[in-house]
Formats: sequence, C-alpha cells, structure tokens
Amino acid sequence: MKIRNDKRRIGIFGFGCVGQGLYDIIQANPQYGLEVASICVKTRNKQRSLPASAFSYDPNQLLHDESIDIFAELISDADEALTIVRHLLKAGKTVVSANKKMVAENLSELLQLQQQYGGVLLYEAAVCGSIPIVRLLDSYFGAEPLKQVSGVLNGSSNYILSKLYYEGISYQEALAQAQALGFAEADPTLDVQGNDALNKLCIVAAHAFGQVVHPEEVLCFGMQHIHAEDVALAQAIGAKIKLVASAQQAAGQQLRLQVLPAFVLSGNELFTVDAEFNGVQVEAEFAGTQFLKGRGAGSHPTGSAVWADVAAALSGFRYSYSKKQTATAGRGETEVVNLYIRAAEAALLENLPLQEVLSLTDATHQVQVICSISVSELRKHQEVIEKAGIFVASLPIGLNKEELLAASTERYLSFV
Ligand code: HSE
Repeated sequence: MKIRNDKRRIGIFGFGCVGQGLYDIIQANPQYGLEVASICVKTRNKQRSLPASAFSYDPNQLLHDESIDIFAELISDADEALTIVRHLLKAGKTVVSANKKMVAENLSELLQLQQQYGGVLLYEAAVCGSIPIVRLLDSYFGAEPLKQVSGVLNGSSNYILSKLYYEGISYQEALAQAQALGFAEADPTLDVQGNDALNKLCIVAAHAFGQVVHPEEVLCFGMQHIHAEDVALAQAIGAKIKLVASAQQAAGQQLRLQVLPAFVLSGNELFTVDAEFNGVQVEAEFAGTQFLKGRGAGSHPTGSAVWADVAAALSGFRYSYSKKQTATAGRGETEVVNLYIRAAEAALLENLPLQEVLSLTDATHQVQVICSISVSELRKHQEVIEKAGIFVASLPIGLNKEELLAASTERYLSFV
C-alpha cells in the first residue's frame, strides 16, 4: 500500500479473531491512510475491545455505503459470508475474504461473478494464515507447470498432533487449548476431520493446477481418531504424524488430490512444522522444490494476510487464474494408497477390501496393520471406517512396506 494523504475507507464484516487482527494492523499503520468505516457484527451485547460506536449491525447499511473503497469479509459462517460476497461482487466491488469454506465450495460461481461484474475477490488469508501461498501460486508460478503442492494446511490439528507427540497430553485437552488460543474454527470438527485443510487444498488446486474441484469430490480423512498407540509407533520409527493435504500432477496425468494423516519422516521439511504452524512444499517443473513455513492460524498472522490483500487490491491486483486455460481435465481414483490402519479390534477390519495386509504388531490390544487400498474403495468405505473410529494414515513416500514393517517392528517392540 502506498503512503497516502487522502484516506481510503474499508468496511469490515465480522470482528472475531481475524477481524481483531486486521483492525490492530490498520491502527498500527496509519501512514497508509486506511480508515475503518464501520465493523458490521451480528450480536449487539457482546464484550468487545472497541466502543459500541465502532460497530454496526445491519449488513445492508454497510453493503450499500458508497463511500467505502474496499470490504473485508471476516465472518465464520460460510453461508452468510457467501451472501455478503455475492452481493458485493454483483455490485462490482472489491472484497477480501478469509473464509476458505465459502471460497472452496463456491469457487466456480465466484469466478463467474468477478468476470461478469468486474469486481475483485482476494482470499490469501483463507489458505495457511500468514503464508503468501495463493499469490505465489497464482502470480509467481502462474506460467510454470507445477508437479506437486503439499503440506500441513491446518494449524489446529497440527497443534493437537504436536501436543500429543511432545507432551503426551490428551486429545481433548490439546483441542481445548487450540480453541482457547483462537486457532480452531467455530466448529472444530472442520479442523480435526480434515475439512478445513481440504477447503484450502481446493483453493490451492485452482491456482496451482487450474482445476476447480468441489471439496466433496476429494478423498479426505481427518486425524480425530488418533490414539496414543499411533503416536508411539510414529516415534518408534523416527516419524511424526501430520495431517497432510496434497495435490499432485505427473506430466499428462490426472490431478490427484487428497487429505490424509501421514507418517512424515525426519528428512522431510514437513517434519519441522509444529504447533499452529503450516508448511507448504511446492514442486515446480523448472524451479525445483521450495518450502514455505509460517503461522497458519491466529489473529495477527491471519490479519496480516488480509491486510496484504487489502493493500494489493487497492493497488489494482487481481488473481490471474492463468492455469485455468491449460488445465488437464479429470482426476483419477484408480490409484492405490499405502496405508497404516489401526482399529480397536480385528473384526472392524474384516469387511474392508484391504490388499497386501501386513500385521505390524500384536503387542497391544489395538490392531495395527499396513496395507494397500484403491482410493475409490477407501472413499466407498469411509463412513464405515469413520464410524468404527478407525485411524488411517498414509505411509512415508519412498519407504516400502517391508522396510517399514522391519523397522517399525524392531523399534516399536523395543520401545514398548
Ligand atoms: N482453523 C484454522 C486452522 C484457522 O486451524 O488452521 C486458519 O485457517
């Protein structure tokens, strides 16, 4: 944003964790001349850090305020966010959003509205908090084919996994901490069941590979069924369990998207991504592999991404979606994934079409196996797996199953 004498006005919807973060950053940077016209919130009688005069309660009033140059939509309800953004885009306005669910589930329409009415929508804060991944993919890598974008895209689940790994506290306690720190979604099942990472992955896929994919079409398992036995096994083989979202496209092949807990070995950069941090690996055809790591959640880190978008939009920036023209159609589900599966009892696995099953150990009451299964079969049986509280995680790339079996059995048995 240029230093200015004349003021630009911003209208903000929502004053939660991210809204407060943006507000603080605006106040800390008066030299950029951005004035908060009003902050529209839903609940009147709520304890807030600003006087009541800073707030308004009628979205229509703010939506129709012609003195406003730019809007920030920072509410957690995806349906309400969509109503606001739709209205603004139809009016040809510029809006910045942090709502990944709203963006991911409605990307086709949001693109069409921008095209038809000339408005602008930016949403860097929707993906990986403070990491400028959307703009990197859209602008910098807009003209270079990418092979893969993968990473830890959800701060809350990663915070919980780190707490289980380093401190051995309970899952519930770790989740409560992530909520108290403002990392978790209003509905934290979105974090732990992988939906939040999935929404971010779909946004990434649009910019990195030009494919607009609805989240419901993608293989997605969360980490909510993790057990101390899984963490112990990871520690025994020198790995950490992370919730990894990935989009891969080999030359001439279909795009493969998935969100799965994964055993990440210490040589992998994602191994170093702990607590609420996010990390993204970008593998480009000519640039090679790059790794970005930063705070993926929290008031000021996410507010910083909104602030960066506001500055960019006011300077005339809009996404190019350049890969959309050249995208290879289709996504395949015929691939096979190599999985670690743990269930409370063997009977729970009996009806699953698992192939090449190898029992890891029967030293505990939990049943732990490694196996293969096609993506389509895994999706078909997802409900049964979830209901049975079965934990699944993908095996480290580059480690074949026999090696893992040998390493894990030896180290795990000596560990327990
Ligand atoms: N609940 C999200 C997370 C917030 O934990 O990553 C940032 O998108």
